[in-house]
Amino acid sequence: MKRTRIVEAVKMTQYGETVNVKGWVRTKRGNKQVNFIALNDGSTINNIQIVADVDKFDEELLKSITTGACLSVTGKLVKSEGAGQAVEIQASEIEIYGLADNTYPLQKKGHSMEFLREIAHLRPRTNTFGAVLRIRHNMAIAIHKFFHEKGFFYWHSPIITASDCEGAGQMFQVTTQNLYDLKKDENGSIKYDDDFFGKQTSLTVSGQLEGELGATALGAIYTFGPTFRAENSNTPRHLAEFWMIEPEVAFIDLAELMDLEEEFIKYCVNWALEHCMDDLTFLNNMIDKGLIERLKSVVSTEFVRLPYTEGIKILEAEIAKGKKFEFPVFWGCDLASEHERFLVEEHFKKPVIMIDYPKEIKAFYMKQNTDGKTVQGTDVLFPQIGEIIGGSVREENYDKLMARIQELNIPMKDMWWYLDTRKYGSCPHAGFGLGFERLMLFVTGMQNIRDVIPFPRTPKTADF
Ligand code: 4AD
Ligand code: MG
Repeated sequence: MKRTRIVEAVKMTQYGETVNVKGWVRTKRGNKQVNFIALNDGSTINNIQIVADVDKFDEELLKSITTGACLSVTGKLVKSEGAGQAVEIQASEIEIYGLADNTYPLQKKGHSMEFLREIAHLRPRTNTFGAVLRIRHNMAIAIHKFFHEKGFFYWHSPIITASDCEGAGQMFQVTTQNLYDLKKDENGSIKYDDDFFGKQTSLTVSGQLEGELGATALGAIYTFGPTFRAENSNTPRHLAEFWMIEPEVAFIDLAELMDLEEEFIKYCVNWALEHCMDDLTFLNNMIDKGLIERLKSVVSTEFVRLPYTEGIKILEAEIAKGKKFEFPVFWGCDLASEHERFLVEEHFKKPVIMIDYPKEIKAFYMKQNTDGKTVQGTDVLFPQIGEIIGGSVREENYDKLMARIQELNIPMKDMWWYLDTRKYGSCPHAGFGLGFERLMLFVTGMQNIRDVIPFPRTPKTADF
C-alpha cells in the first residue's frame, strides 16, 4: 500500500479510509487494552497517534516497540477523541523495520544542546533539529527563488582556489603531497611543482572573485555554496565550514546594493513566516519566546543606513555618558560585536546597514571613496547576530585597484585574471556575502551556530 507522509496524514479528513504511514517512534504509552504510539517521519513537527488494541497484536511485538524504533503502520484513519490531534490511526497491521533498544540516546525529552552535538548523527530526529533543518531547506529554496525571479543566474565558483579573496590568510590548504616527505627548495620553502595542482591551493574563503567574473559577463549572478575559514574563533557565530550566498551585480551603486541586501533578507524572513509556521511556532514556544515577533518586526521595519564615522560618534557619546565596553572605540577600529549589538539592539532597535568603513579594516577590492580614507563597504548588522552580511561596491578602476594591491603586498602572480576584468570593459559593480548559518540563527532563534547546520565543523571538531 502506498505510504502517506505524516504531514499529509494529520491533515486528512477522509475518516474511515485505510492509510499506511512509516516513521520513528517518539513515545509509547498505554494500558491493558490499548497502546498509543506517537510516530514521526520528519515531514512535519507533528506526530501522528497510532492506536493499537492490545488484543489485536502479538504481545511480544507490542513490547518490542520502544522509543526510536522504526515502523510501518497500516490502519483506519479516525477522528481523534484525545486532545492535541485531529486524527489518529487505528492500527490493523504493524511491521517493525528496525528496533531500538534502551541504549538509544534520545529516550527522554529535554537534552542539552551540548549533549545533542555529541550525537549529531541522531539529533535530526529530535523536534528541535527537525524544525531547524526543515527551515534550513526552506531558506535555501527562498534564496534560489528570490534570485531566479530577479533574473540572477546561479553561478558556481570553485571550491579549490589559488587566491585568498579576503586576504586574511585563513585558508585550509589542499594538497596531495606526502606530509612526511615535503620537497623544499634551497631556501627551505615548500616546492609545489609536484603537488596535484602544481601550485599552492586552498579551500575557498569566498566565491566573490570568480563571482565578479560572472557578473561582468552575465550581468547578475549569485553563488550559494560552502566556504571555509581556518580562523580559530571559538564563538557561537563562527564555523570553519559555512555556506555563503554571494550575489554580484554589474551596473549598481552603493544605494542599490543596500536596497538589494535589505530586500533579500526580508524576502527570506517573510518566506519563513509564510511557509514554516508550524516549526516556527514550536521554536517560539520552546527556544525563544520573542522569535516570531522579531521576525515580523524585521520584515516591516526599514533598516537604518549609517556611515561608520557616525556610528563611532554615537558609541563615543555613549562612552562619555558612562557606558562600558570591553574593547576600545576610536575612529579606525574594527567594531567588536558588543559595539555592533549596542547600535542595533539598544540605540536604533532595528537592523543597521553600516557603510563607508576605513579602508585599513576592509578588503583590497572595495571601492575607494574620494576622501582617501574610506571605502564603499557595507555590513548589515542584526539583532542577536551582529554581522549577517558583508559586501561592497568593487573598485573598478585598474590603477586604483593595482595601487591598493601593491600597498597590501598581495601576491600578484595568481591575480592576473581578476585584474583583466578592470583592463577589458571594466564596469561599476557591487555584491555582498550573506552567511547562511547567521541567517539561520536569526530565523530559528537558536543560540549557537553549531545547532543550525547538520554537522558543524569548528576548531578540534570534525566528527560525523
Ligand atoms: O564579511 P565576509 O568575510 O565577506 C566576504 O567574504 C565577501 N567576499 C563577501 C562578498 O562581498 N561577496 O563574509 C560574509 C559573511 C559575513 O557577513 C558572515 O555572515 C559570514 O559570511 N561569515 C561567517 N559565517 C559563519 N562562520 C564564519 N567563520 C564566518 N565568516 C563570515
Ligand atoms: Mg565581514
